[in-house]
Amino acid sequence: MIGGFSPDEYIADPGLAEVGDRRIQYSERSMPLLTALARRFSVERPFDGMAVAACLHVTPETAVLVRLLRAAGARVTLAASNPLSTQDDIAAALAATDGVAVFARAGVDRRTYYEHIALALGADGAQGPDLVIDDGGDLVSTLLAPGGTTPPVTPPHGGTARPPIPPGARPPKFPLGGCEGTTTGVLRLRRMAAEGALAFPMIAASDTPAKRLVDNTHGTGQSVIDGLLRASGVLLAGKTVVVAGFGTCGVGIAECARGLGARVLITEVDPVRALDAVLRGFGVLTLADAAPLGEVFITATGSAEVITGEHMAAMRDGAILANAGHFDVEIDVRGLHDLAVAVHPDVRPHTDAFELPDGRRLLLLAEGRVVNLVAADGHPPEVMDLAFGIEALALAWLAGNAEKLAPDVHPVPPDIDAEAARLVLAALGAEIDSLTAAQRAYLASWRLGS
Ligand code: ADE
Repeated sequence: MIGGFSPDEYIADPGLAEVGDRRIQYSERSMPLLTALARRFSVERPFDGMAVAACLHVTPETAVLVRLLRAAGARVTLAASNPLSTQDDIAAALAATDGVAVFARAGVDRRTYYEHIALALGADGAQGPDLVIDDGGDLVSTLLAPGGTTPPVTPPHGGTARPPIPPGARPPKFPLGGCEGTTTGVLRLRRMAAEGALAFPMIAASDTPAKRLVDNTHGTGQSVIDGLLRASGVLLAGKTVVVAGFGTCGVGIAECARGLGARVLITEVDPVRALDAVLRGFGVLTLADAAPLGEVFITATGSAEVITGEHMAAMRDGAILANAGHFDVEIDVRGLHDLAVAVHPDVRPHTDAFELPDGRRLLLLAEGRVVNLVAADGHPPEVMDLAFGIEALALAWLAGNAEKLAPDVHPVPPDIDAEAARLVLAALGAEIDSLTAAQRAYLASWRLGS
C-alpha cells in the first residue's frame, strides 16, 4: 500500500501483469545505461526514503526507469503523460511487481487524465512528492494550479473514489525539484518561471546535446515514421511528405522519410532552420503552398494551429495528417470535423477518414495526438536508455543539490550529459580518444596562431 492506495486500483487489468513484465525485460536488455545505473544506485541509494511522482508515457522503457528509481530507494507514483499512450500491460506489471501506485489506463478522457495526475501527486499521503519527473509539463502545472472543479474518479475495480488534491488547495509542501524530459514541457516551465509561478527548481533534461541528438532526431525520426506506417499502411517511396517544423525532431522525421524514398518538403517560421533545410536539399515553402501538394503531412512544431481548416480544404484526396508534437493542438481537429460531412472512424487502427462535401477524404492518424506513442511504441529502448539515463543522473544530482538552486529552469550539469554518453558508448563497445597534454594546452591558449 502506498498512502492508502492499493497499487492496482486505477489500472485497466491487473491480469496483464505477466505479459507486461516480459515486455519490460525485453526492453531492459537494450538499455545498458539504465541497467548499469540501477546497479550503481542500488548501492548508493540516492533516493532513499524519498517519494518520486512521475508523469510519463507508460511504456516498457518507462518501467525500466521506474524500476531503477525503486532500486535507488524511492517510493514511486506514476501517472500517464498522455491519455492514449498508456500500455495497460506495463501499468499492470509495475503495479503488481514493483509496488508502484500507477494511475493510468489507455483511452481515459481528459478529466480522468488530470485526476490521475493529481492522484499521483497526492498518493503518497499528505506530504506530496520529494521529487518529480514530468513529460510535457502537465504534472508540474497540476501541482502549481491544483484542484479544478471535477468530482473524484471512481477506480475501475470498485473501491472508494478518493479525492485528489482538493480544489483550490496547495499541497502541504512543494517538491525539492524535478526533471522535465520534453522540449514542450521545458517551454511551459520557462513560461511559469517568467511569471514567477515556478515554486521549485526544474532541470531541463531535454536540452542536453546528447539527448537532442539521440532522442529528438533519431528517436522521433524513426518512431514517428513507424507510427505513420503502422496506422496508414502506405508506401512512402515516391510520396510527397510535408514536415511542418524543422527543429531537432523535424530534422529526424524529414531525414527518415527521405531515407524511405519520399520527396520531402519543409515548412518553417524560423529562417535559420529553413536555411538548414534548404542546404540539406529539402524543398522549403509555406504551408499554404504545400497544402495542395502533400500526400502526407506531419506536424513537429511544438506550436498550435499549424494545419488549419483552410489548409485542409486545399488538400488532395487521400491526404494523411499526423502529428508528432507533444500536444494535440498542431492539427485543427475540430476544424476538420467542421469541414467533414461524414467521419468514418477506424478505417484502420488509429486512422479515421473524414469525408469532405466534394467526396475527397482526409485521413487523420491517432486523433491528432502524438503519433509515435499512440500508433506505435514511442522511441525504441536504446533511445530512452540515454534520455532516461540523463534524467536519472540529473535527478540523483538534484536530490543532493536542490536546496542550493533557485526556483527556476536549470540546465543539466554538463558533466552528466558527457557521463551518460560515455556510459552508452562503453556499452556499445565504442572507444574514443582523449586530448593529449599538448592539445589541452593549445586549446587553452589564445597566443598560438599559424
Ligand atoms: N517518449 C517517447 N518514447 C517513449 C518511450 N518509449 N517511453 C517513454 N516515453 C517516451
